[in-house]
Amino acid sequence: MRHKVSIIGGAGNVGASAALEIARRDIADVVMLDLEVVRDKAMGRAHDTSHAGSILGYHTMLLGTSDYEDISGSEVVIVTAGIPRKPGMTRDDLLKVNSGIIAEVGRKIAKHAPESVVLVVTNPLDSMVYAMIRATGFERERVFGMSGELDSARFRDFISRKLNVSRKDIDVTILGGHGDKMVPVPEACSVRGINLSSLIPKKDLDECIRRTVTAGGDVTKLMGTSAYVAPGIAIAEMVVSILLNQRRVFSASTLLNGSEEGYGNVKDVCIGVPVVIGKDGIERILPIRMEKDTFKKYMESVRKEMANIGKLGL
Ligand code: NAI
Repeated sequence: MRHKVSIIGGAGNVGASAALEIARRDIADVVMLDLEVVRDKAMGRAHDTSHAGSILGYHTMLLGTSDYEDISGSEVVIVTAGIPRKPGMTRDDLLKVNSGIIAEVGRKIAKHAPESVVLVVTNPLDSMVYAMIRATGFERERVFGMSGELDSARFRDFISRKLNVSRKDIDVTILGGHGDKMVPVPEACSVRGINLSSLIPKKDLDECIRRTVTAGGDVTKLMGTSAYVAPGIAIAEMVVSILLNQRRVFSASTLLNGSEEGYGNVKDVCIGVPVVIGKDGIERILPIRMEKDTFKKYMESVRKEMANIGKLGL
């Protein structure tokens, strides 16, 4: 039997890009669900991606829909539903609107795909993961966010350009909040095991970090819409690790409950940490050694935002 993956927000850019990347792997059928008002767009995207299968040779079945009955039996549900930040909107405004959307979507996932693993993509990411855990009532292992995989890809790209070595041989760890709240950990970065700080001058490394932090915003400014190619691929990598039980290590936004080794008894906060992802979601949170200052910066990055979600009473 083929696997089944659903994408809520499937008519949007990131949803459609993730659908194509999953389709190309030829391991799961894909449901692209969106609001009734854009159901035709979801159907069009599904047809378009299906036609590409004739050229690329994949067998993935794709369905565009607005009916939640169609997601039943999904092993993974990806959530990209939300609105982008509009001119004049504060971060808090965005938080309010998108957490309302996540609450509604989460309740429907719990009803129609109660056994699924939920991968949250909507921004502001860490708070949306927190809201999704509350809305679905699922255990924390089954609800987490795509953050570090994309941030790491960007960091590796900038380091590769500085060092003139293949992106493939660069290994990095990024923790903390998604976007401008991320914290790269240079101690845990290497080129094929050779510590990064012995290969790159501090000022160049700092520049790579700075560019990684602003990369999402920079792309949005240039394209007039947020990135979707690299995000779609990052999502597909995580989905494959779940479906094939690969137990790959990703930095993902997850709920800390105070019992994890190495994270200073921090609890009730969703934040990016290295995790092992298999068929039931997060199998393990890996401890990481870092400078005290890095840790402090890393924790402070998301605490405030999470407190705001609590206040919304979703
Ligand atoms: P988009 O605007 O193209 O797509 C969003 C889709 O969500 C739209 O099709 C919209 O109709 C749908 N939607 C809105 N409310 C809904 C609801 N109640 N139920 C079902 N669908 C609903 O936006 P895009 O570019 O695809 O981005 C999606 C989200 O992903 C944004 O929040 C964006 O900031 C975030 N993002 C996160 C990344 C990450 O690394 N975590 C990377 C890139 C984007």
